[in-house]
Amino acid sequence: TGATVYQQCQGCHQTTGQGIPGAFPPLAGNVQAILAAKGGRAYLIHVVLYGLQGPIKVKGQTYNGAMPAFAQLSDNQAAAVLNHVSTSWGNKLPQGQKAFTAAEVKAQRAKKLTPAQVAAERQKLGLR
Ligand code: HEM
Repeated sequence: TGATVYQQCQGCHQTTGQGIPGAFPPLAGNVQAILAAKGGRAYLIHVVLYGLQGPIKVKGQTYNGAMPAFAQLSDNQAAAVLNHVSTSWGNKLPQGQKAFTAAEVKAQRAKKLTPAQVAAERQKLGLR
């Protein structure tokens, strides 16, 4: 299940989804905001499949760390963990959005992005 896969994330993002300020960004609140942005859904899949490296700003706090890629997760596992983080700690899927599916993850594997390209993609989401 998503909660089981999330055990691989919680060392950094914490069981509470709050992260560690300045080191690991929060997923609580933040994932919901990303989902609400155009392109946010694909971006979230890319973070999990390809990792993320580059300065980002979340809730006024700057992060400039590196998240490793989790390409080794199956399409099902990746979809499950994305659904977990999208529906935990007060996050919910924006109205009209369905749960992530394995097919949706699989489709994004063709892109082959670098962690820096994923950071550039984040810039375009216009998050603030
Ligand atoms: C960023 C999810 C595992 C460290 C992110 C973001 C998401 C995410 C969605 C983007 C946040 C944003 O754009 O505002 C996950 C999930 C994981 C996982 C679902 C498990 C599959 C980890 C682990 C680490 C980590 C194990 C530490 C080794 C980071 C860091 C960033 C980040 C440092 C920010 C990178 C930067 O500053 O560019 N994570 N994460 N994550 N994650 Fe993870």
